[in-house]
Amino acid sequence: SQFCSALIIRTFAQAEVDQLGAHATIPVINALTDDDHPTQALADWLTIREKFGSDLSGRKFVYLGDGNNVTHAWLIMGAIMGAHVVAATPDGKWAPDATVVAKAKEIAAKSGATIEVTNDAEAAAKGASVLYTDVWMSMGDPEAERREKEKVLAPFAVTEAIMSAASKDAIFMHCLPAHRGEEVSEEV
Ligand code: NVA
Repeated sequence: SQFCSALIIRTFAQAEVDQLGAHATIPVINALTDDDHPTQALADWLTIREKFGSDLSGRKFVYLGDGNNVTHAWLIMGAIMGAHVVAATPDGKWAPDATVVAKAKEIAAKSGATIEVTNDAEAAAKGASVLYTDVWMSMGDPEAERREKEKVLAPFAVTEAIMSAASKDAIFMHCLPAHRGEEVSEEV
């Protein structure tokens, strides 16, 4: 705190950011942890405002894939924005954290947002304004899980068929780097 004006940290354990935040007298900003990626969500919602303006009524914003740090940030940010946000993920190990979903729903109750979690990718994509996805293997994910993860996440890939279920003016978004042929098809 005596050396810097602010600290921006990208790490794995959320506790590291939380502890730095608790002890620092300067701002501590989470630039990605295993649990959260709030700066990504802020940037994404700037893009959404640029593309669709500030009136989000009747629009649906859909995340498909691994229920990870980006999903968590999207659910919380969507709840704050008063938007209709759907996360389509598998059940179980790669579903978003239940406490984050509960927190997003609590915020939504005040903001007027609608927060949904489903495992039906096609129904989620129907009429969406944004289809968003993230890599299947995040930084730090164990290589040993790759094959199982690829199999379980395959139905959540953003393909042309999924894209054509979305609204006519829908855009595709990704926090990058994208792996074409995995979470998003080459054509999309
Ligand atoms: N879920 C990804 C996001 C990368 C921007 C990761 O944590 O690696």
